[in-house]
Amino acid sequence: MTSGLQALEYRGYDSCGYAFLLGNTIKVEKRVGKGKIRELFSGIPERTDSQACIISHTRWATHGKICMDNAHPHMDCKNEIAVVHNGIIENYAHLRKILEQKGHRFISETDTEVVPHLIEEHEKHMRFHKAVMKSLNELEGSFAILVLRKDGPGIIGARKGSPLLVGFYEDNFLISSHINPIMEYTDRVMFFEDGEMFIVSNNGIRVFNLASGGEVEKNSVRIKSGFAKSDTGGFESYMQKEIFEQPEVLNRTFESFSAEIDRYDREIDFLPGRIIIVGCGSSWHAGLIGKYIMEDFLRLPVDVEYASEFRYRNPVLLPDDLVVAISQSGETADTIGAVKAVQGYARVLSICNVLNSSIVRESDYVFYTQAGPEIGVASTKAFTSQLATLYFLNLLIGLKKGVIAKSSLKKRIEEFKELSGKILEILNTMTHIEKISASLQDRQNALFLGRGIHFPVALEGALKMKEVSYIHAEGYPAAEMKHGPIALIDEHMPVVFVSGAGRFSAKVLNNMAEVKLRGGYIITVTDDSVSEMKKVSDEIIVVPHIDNEYLGPILTVVPLQMLAFFTAIKRGCDVDKPRNLAKSVTVE
Ligand code: F6R
Repeated sequence: MTSGLQALEYRGYDSCGYAFLLGNTIKVEKRVGKGKIRELFSGIPERTDSQACIISHTRWATHGKICMDNAHPHMDCKNEIAVVHNGIIENYAHLRKILEQKGHRFISETDTEVVPHLIEEHEKHMRFHKAVMKSLNELEGSFAILVLRKDGPGIIGARKGSPLLVGFYEDNFLISSHINPIMEYTDRVMFFEDGEMFIVSNNGIRVFNLASGGEVEKNSVRIKSGFAKSDTGGFESYMQKEIFEQPEVLNRTFESFSAEIDRYDREIDFLPGRIIIVGCGSSWHAGLIGKYIMEDFLRLPVDVEYASEFRYRNPVLLPDDLVVAISQSGETADTIGAVKAVQGYARVLSICNVLNSSIVRESDYVFYTQAGPEIGVASTKAFTSQLATLYFLNLLIGLKKGVIAKSSLKKRIEEFKELSGKILEILNTMTHIEKISASLQDRQNALFLGRGIHFPVALEGALKMKEVSYIHAEGYPAAEMKHGPIALIDEHMPVVFVSGAGRFSAKVLNNMAEVKLRGGYIITVTDDSVSEMKKVSDEIIVVPHIDNEYLGPILTVVPLQMLAFFTAIKRGCDVDKPRNLAKSVTVE
């Protein structure tokens, strides 16, 4: 009964629950906690009968504290209607007030609980599925919702802004917010558009348009099921496994791009005048590295925007803009919002890791990253595969712009092949990096500094550190340190410098001297001026040099991932499920 939830537990949750029909009643089980789903529900027998109708949910608290009452499923007053919901119902306070005035009793603080009560209210005047439809039309905000009714027609589902799909396995329907849990059983899937509702029952599946109420013809599709079921493959955590998978991921990215380049070239049939990259978190950092590469190589203006700001800012868009949306999950609410905000004004290309995800389906073009399922909450292999994909996108646009000739494209692609061997060399320095992490494990704060293309790498290093070890870490351009953060530097402040070979060596050395003078503890990651940097650094991690400076960040970020990982392990943190974080942020 909980195996579907188990497949999604990596995404983060603080409570969970499910509801199913038992005789003439709806039975609900809920648990509070972040432990393994299997352990939280231990002792409860699995239901395997084919008539079982079960809806389940993992909650990541937004409205209301973490407690049993706020865990899903939520019920109506008579305990006849159960609802699970992802997303946020923005007008819930208003709806709740009206429903309370009509006598409905609420037991949770959640936005979701208005839904079963609203359905219950409308059902007084119409048939159940019409009542569900009417209720969903009254909701503002986002939802992927499942509704189960005692004596009902089966399960009703609907989506608006949050992902939901149905897989077909023998006579069963497997409903999920993500493709991972169902791929083990089937490759036949039905995806839904925003504003669609479906009913699955013994009679099959029926799909409706929520606004018109009319029935919609819809076909299932076969999806490529190349990815095996995930496990930690002998590593102690997904994060470690995923860091170590990077050489293989980069080889896959290389092979995929080499095989697809002609198709991409045909599909992207215009030359952009400007590129706007949108994303969140690590994906935004990848975009920033993309800006350094593309502006330099293509001589095109490139803006990098936080999706959450961009979507509401009323940005100026031009007809030859290309918006590049970067997202591992393809379900990040703000990035979806940004993509939707530009539809009809600019073309959208998504760089995404999940097949047929919402962002992919809203985009004009897609480049899939070849990371495979990323289970650890902190992005590692997805980040480096985003960098690799941006590099290839850059080459492709370069080809269109005439910056690079087809004859030299091959050489540029070949340079990429050096990467996986070099990452292996870095991974082999694991013991050294683990030793260095001991000097960080008891710190409260850390600064990460870099220049040029390695400045976003410093941002990413700081994000990794704070996410998994809970050490407060900030990334800055190295020269910006003088404008404020330098006040923080004393013997208690570790400063991680990221430096790639090139025009900035002397300047980075100056910044290091400034830190040293104030007693800061310096850890350097570099392939550059090693001997001079060694003199001022307390610890140094040397990465192999690569001539193509655009590919440097793919190397310098790996030790930073490892540093965050080992520091977190030494501090006893759960690296795969850091507190308060969800793998896929489907609320804005
Ligand atoms: C950091 C991390 C997050 C994600 C961000 C965007 O390690 O994983 O910052 O990068 O939530 O997620 P996606 O890429 O799925 O849109």
